[in-house]
Amino acid sequence: MFRKIILAATSALALSGAAMAAGTEAGHIEDIDFSFEGPFGKFDEFQLQRGLQVYTEVCSACHGMKFVPIRTLADEGGPALPPDQVRAYAANLDDVELPGGESRPREWTDKFPARSGLGMGPDLSLMAKARAGFHGPYGTGINQLTKGIGGPEYIHAILTGYTGETKEEAGTTFYENHAFPGGWISMPPPLSDDSVTFADGSPTTLDAISTDVSAFLMWSAEPKLMARKQAGFVAVIFLIGLSVLLYLTNKKLWAKVKGKEFTA
Ligand code: HEC
Repeated sequence: MFRKIILAATSALALSGAAMAAGTEAGHIEDIDFSFEGPFGKFDEFQLQRGLQVYTEVCSACHGMKFVPIRTLADEGGPALPPDQVRAYAANLDDVELPGGESRPREWTDKFPARSGLGMGPDLSLMAKARAGFHGPYGTGINQLTKGIGGPEYIHAILTGYTGETKEEAGTTFYENHAFPGGWISMPPPLSDDSVTFADGSPTTLDAISTDVSAFLMWSAEPKLMARKQAGFVAVIFLIGLSVLLYLTNKKLWAKVKGKEFTA
């Protein structure tokens, strides 16, 4: 028995060591206090709207979001844009290709266009969840509860992590990037200060617009985050109430028996 425990403990230690090694290789990722983190966190609809603008004006040239229905841009708890604005937005996107080489205008009930081909990047619909992970107490999940899953931080770190160095390999240019595993990425730096202009006058530094688009990509990957947190909260309250009732019922049911035994 004791040997088993020792064995389990050493293998757990070895595993967390490996995780730590993998963590350092992937470069340093700064934590960001996003509004949607923590047990009561909420998306900031204005930040999501700004992030959508950054995605539309910059990222969508190379990255699709083929799993995200356009109409969800009107959802409460999401960017919450007025429906007529979302319909107009959809009509401005690439046409939908139909079989037989025909095409039709994109409707708001369609999904965002996909991107494929040379120089195009991976689909961004689920990127914020695909790249979840955090330097921290390995595997305990405590950081995820208080600081979020780390995916948006990773995206922010990639966008702000360029050093300016480039290298050419087999006809492809690579850009040095602190956050990207391996240190060299084939995506040219997509953002810099003032790459976009916001109508509401929000700051447009590299850091600010990278944060906005990362928040938007968290929403695209997990649009029901707030509803899930609320459901979780209700479930916890319910379970606490149920536990109290069960405890009191148990006391009452056994009161006679226990009472007798005690006095006998
Ligand atoms: C000129 C085309 C281009 C633009 C514009 C562009 N990207 Fe990329 N992106 C790429 C390519 C190519 C890759 C694949 C890089 C690689 O694997 O080396 C990539 C990869 C990524 C990755 C994945 C990194 C990983 O861990 O695999 C993220 C995240 C990303 N881009 C986010 C963005 C965001 C956000 C924007 C807009 C601010 C953007 N990109 C704009 C071409 C582009």
